Amino acid sequence: MAQEDVFKKLVSHCKEYGFVFPSSEIYDGLGAVYDYGQNGVELKNNIKQYWWQSMVMLHDNIVGLDSAIFMHPTIWKASGHVDAFNDPLIDNRDSKKRYRADVLIEDQIARYDEKIAKEVAKAAKKYGDAFNEQEFRSTNARVLEHQAKRDALHERYTKAMNAGPDLNELRQIILDEEIVCPISGTKNWTEVRQFNLMFSTEMGSTADGSMKVYLRPETAQGIFVNYLNVQKTGRMKIPFGIAQIGKAFRNEIVARQFIFRMREFEQMEMQFFVKPGTELEWFKRWKETRLKWHKALGFGDNHYRFHDHEKLAHYANAATDIEFLMPFGFKEVEGIHSRTNFDLSQHEKFSGKNIKYFDPETNENYTPYVIETSIGVDRMFLSIMSGSYCEEKLENGETRVVLKLPAALAPVKLAIMPLVKKDGLPEKAREIMDGLKFHFNCQYDEKDSIGKRYRRQDAIGTPYCVTVDHETLQTGCVTLRDRDTMRQERVPVNELQSVIGDRVNITSLLKKL
Ligand code: GAP
Repeated sequence: MAQEDVFKKLVSHCKEYGFVFPSSEIYDGLGAVYDYGQNGVELKNNIKQYWWQSMVMLHDNIVGLDSAIFMHPTIWKASGHVDAFNDPLIDNRDSKKRYRADVLIEDQIARYDEKIAKEVAKAAKKYGDAFNEQEFRSTNARVLEHQAKRDALHERYTKAMNAGPDLNELRQIILDEEIVCPISGTKNWTEVRQFNLMFSTEMGSTADGSMKVYLRPETAQGIFVNYLNVQKTGRMKIPFGIAQIGKAFRNEIVARQFIFRMREFEQMEMQFFVKPGTELEWFKRWKETRLKWHKALGFGDNHYRFHDHEKLAHYANAATDIEFLMPFGFKEVEGIHSRTNFDLSQHEKFSGKNIKYFDPETNENYTPYVIETSIGVDRMFLSIMSGSYCEEKLENGETRVVLKLPAALAPVKLAIMPLVKKDGLPEKAREIMDGLKFHFNCQYDEKDSIGKRYRRQDAIGTPYCVTVDHETLQTGCVTLRDRDTMRQERVPVNELQSVIGDRVNITSLLKKL
């Protein structure tokens, strides 16, 4: 199945099985805003719990924080977001549609790549086993022509982006490449302008007395401005970290690929405060630690790669992304940044307060350096859903859709089903559920045939199903079915908790770290 089709199926699966709904759907939705349904919220909470516990429970030098979404507006001036958190935008005068100039150009680069891929695929089909792709790419005239155009465009685009960006040059590239508006089909473009991504609102009741405030575009600044509060009240010694999970808001202009790029999303960020000069060592350590966290989910090492940043922000001295192989290619899920002492120094300058750390071991005052790990909950959710979604052909010719979620993250851990709705089986099933519901999330299901019920649970990724039959009333044993192997075994009811519990608790993941 083409990867595009897999992605479409995944999006409709998320809706059909109560994972993700478009926000305000009965009013035709709200662009790039989504709601999480009954299963989605459970999966999301489990992801957050896995992250939180791996940070705060497993490290005795990392503590949590929950700072407010609204913050003093000067914070965003100090952090650079007011002046520099921009996207270059261009409007088409005919369709009145607005686009990100950089995305229009990146799409054009992708079009050259597609043309090359098509030529390669055509030749591969024609020549069969005798096809030598490398030789074809380096000798075929059409491929070479596309490649040359692509490389020249890429070079020109990178230069323009690195020069500020150079807005006139971005527009000129769009004109020279004859890029048209997908709606109107025309090249009637406006100038390129910078557009700030922060949402703002007014705080206070009167026009005179009100103040412009922003919805935070990242949770990190709440950590920076509280770092000394936490350090002093928690008697933290450097190196130490502060972890936070919370909503962030960005007025993304090109919002697409479902929950990959949203206007309201959630971040899990940890700022690790270190002694200046030790930051690159810590950066390396956090890269390894975070990759291990991802890999423990069991999707396979080939699903992950680092993308080290070549061009660094002026305040960073190292940065990398952890990318996951989504149905639309490798995409950033998490960023790990060595941010020097930029943010703390800026807050010291703008607030006029001394926020230096006093090191009791060396009797020195200094501004700590910071390693940041920043991961989007929603992107993590998407990566887990796309890594788990499977369509399997069964021996009887049927296809089953199964979400092979890591058991510890599954919304429902155990479905409990009476074989029939009579003869005391529902009562027995309820009794089993009442015993287990204190330990993990269970779901009772008595509707439809047992086969249909299994399929429903497969589709939401429930790792285990228990069937209560007539024998259960005599022997006290139930049938336990494994989602992935579909194997069934008889298990005494009083052993269910120990058999399942260890495999479905977050601890099972944490122990791999
Ligand atoms: N404090 C650093 C920071 O915010 P970022 O690379 O802009 O860095 C970090 O964002 C992570 O937040 C990304 O790796 C991504 O997972 C998530 N993220 C950023 N923008 C997002 C959006 N519009 N929708 C969903 N997730 C987003």
